[in-house]
Amino acid sequence: MIMANKETSLAGRVAIVTGAASGIGRATARLLAAAGAKLVLGDYDDKIHDVAMALGADATVLDAGDEEAVKAIVARAMALHGRVDIVHANAGILGGMTSLFDHTVDDWTRILRTNLIGPAIMMKHVGPVMMAQGQGVIVCTASVAGLRSGAGCPAYSASKAGLINLVQVAAQQFSGSGVRVNAVCPGLVETGMTEATFTYAREKGVENKIGRLNPLRRAAQAEEVARAVLFLASDAASYINGHALVVDGGLSTSLPVTRQETGKTAF
Ligand SMILES: NC(=O)c1ccc[n+]([C@@H]2O[C@H](COP(=O)([O-])OP(=O)(O)OC[C@H]3O[C@@H](n4cnc5c(N)ncnc54)[C@H](O)[C@@H]3O)[C@@H](O)[C@H]2O)c1
Repeated sequence: MIMANKETSLAGRVAIVTGAASGIGRATARLLAAAGAKLVLGDYDDKIHDVAMALGADATVLDAGDEEAVKAIVARAMALHGRVDIVHANAGILGGMTSLFDHTVDDWTRILRTNLIGPAIMMKHVGPVMMAQGQGVIVCTASVAGLRSGAGCPAYSASKAGLINLVQVAAQQFSGSGVRVNAVCPGLVETGMTEATFTYAREKGVENKIGRLNPLRRAAQAEEVARAVLFLASDAASYINGHALVVDGGLSTSLPVTRQETGKTAF
């Protein structure tokens, strides 16, 4: 449990979280609610209603890559609460482990649309609201896949690398406004996105291989990433801006010692 003090309390703050029906987004929604924030949650899975009900939050079924839908969730937060202090632009898709040679243009378009264009249009539409307030925080979920190869298909890696750069660009474009923009870069986290990997490893009795390249010798739980999002969203991170915070147990501190096979991840 996180104890809120003056710097970490989010009492009176209004937060939008996308991709909040599962995994990292759901864990973040729980921590933001526990810190006192009022939540407006979005996901294209209608399980978002269950998550919202448990937290006393508002829920919208939306496509985070659709500009009109993103505009609408910002408008909904404004209509309900009159402000938006925090956005966790988290919705993302993996898109399998296709190699560069098998990727279709449709794969590239689909993955970039959700993972990169989605956060960009969120910044575009929530930006003016936050700038008018003179304060706001946007935290995007990037990935270690955006720092190195081997943790996702080429379009996924490129989308996350682009997102890390977008965060830097946005920090500059919000200059002087009081709005901070950061990213978290998780390593391997047990969520809906990676469920098949964990299920397969457990069925084969090779669960101990998951995280074997990680100094902490394990994958993360969603709440371990959500705690980093909570920190970046709070006043405790008041001077952190344009930063990509790696939350990977040390995974990205080293280069792999074996060659990856095309299209396969080494965890
Ligand atoms: N799980 C990992 O190992 C890992 C590692 C690094 C980064 N990430 C990133 O974390 C973020 C959250 O993923 P997760 O691991 O919690 O997976 P998850 O599948 O458990 O949750 C992702 C949620 O986003 C929703 N979503 C996907 N596309 C959407 C869209 N276009 N519009 C609305 N909702 C959409 C899904 O329905 C789902 O509820 C993603 O951006 C992902 O790329 C995950």
